[in-house]
Amino acid sequence: MDSNDLLPASLLVHCTPQELREHFPAIALLQPVSAFPGGVRCAPRAAPELAREGIAAVPLAIEAENEIAGWPDPPSRVTGHWYIASPDHLPPPPGFDLLVQLPGEGFGTWPHPTTRVSLRMLDHLPDGAAIDAGCGSGLLTQAWATTRGPVSAIDLDPQAITQARAAMTRTTHSARVTWHTGPLRHHVPTATGTIVLANLPEIAHIELIGALNASHRAILVCGVRTSRATPLLDRYQEAGWVGVAHDQIEGWGCWIMRRTDSVGDASDEFWHHPR
Ligand SMILES: C[S@@+](CC[C@H](N)C(=O)[O-])C[C@H]1O[C@@H](n2cnc3c(N)ncnc32)[C@H](O)[C@@H]1O
Repeated sequence: MDSNDLLPASLLVHCTPQELREHFPAIALLQPVSAFPGGVRCAPRAAPELAREGIAAVPLAIEAENEIAGWPDPPSRVTGHWYIASPDHLPPPPGFDLLVQLPGEGFGTWPHPTTRVSLRMLDHLPDGAAIDAGCGSGLLTQAWATTRGPVSAIDLDPQAITQARAAMTRTTHSARVTWHTGPLRHHVPTATGTIVLANLPEIAHIELIGALNASHRAILVCGVRTSRATPLLDRYQEAGWVGVAHDQIEGWGCWIMRRTDSVGDASDEFWHHPR
C-alpha cells in the first residue's frame, strides 16, 4: 500500500493466537478493536501514521473492508511487554500487560521516550510500595499498581491527577493507588513507599532530592538527556545514591539507583527479586 493512499475503513488481520502474540507490537499499530474467529479487526484510520508503519511491519495476510471498525482514542502501541491502549481497543494477548489511557490532556497519553524508557526499566526494581513522583497521566502508576504493588501518586497538576485517576478506575487495581495533588516537597516525606519513580524535569529532581529520606531505598531517575545528566547524577550521589542500571531511548536516559548505605548490608535481600 502506498503511504499516500487513503487507509481502508477496516483491516482484517488473519492470524492464529500464536501469530497474534508474536506480531502484536506491529498489530497494535494498526489499532486492533475486536477479534473474529480467524484473526483481529483493526481501525487504521484512528491513527494513520502508526497504521502505515504497522502495515509495513505485519508479515500476515491483511484484508481491507469498507465498514468503519471504530475510532479508538488515544491510539494503541506496544513498548516492551506494555500495551498502551484505550478501553475501545482489543484486550492484549497473553504476555502483554495493558495500560489503559483515556482521551484528553496529560503527559504520557502519547508515550514520550522518557515514559517508554521508564516503563522498560521498571523490571529492574524490586517489588514493594512505590511513590510515583510527578505521575502525569499515570502510566507508571498504573504499570506499578497493576503488576507490582501499591502506589502513592503525586502531581502538582490537578488535571493530571484527574486524568490518571479516571484511567486507573478502568483497571481492577485502582484501590492500590492513593492520590496526592501538590508539590513533591510536601507529599514525598510522608507518602507510603520505599521505591520512588521519578520521571521529572531537572528542577523537580532537585526538589525531590531534598524531600527523600532513609526510608526510600530505590529510585528510578528519568527526564533528562543522557548527554546532560552528569550534574544531576552527581547531586543524587552526594545525597547518598549510587547507580545500578542505565538505559536510554532517543537520547533520554533512565537510571536505577539505590542508597549507598544499603550496599552490602542486610537490605541487599531487597535487590534479589527484580522481575
Ligand atoms: C515528565 S512528566 C512525567 C509523567 C509520568 N510520570 C510519565 O512518566 O509519563 C512530569 C510530571 O511531573 C509533574 N511535576 C513537575 N514538577 C513537580 C513538582 N515540583 N511537584 C509535583 N509534580 C511535579 C508535572 O506536572 C508532570 O505531570
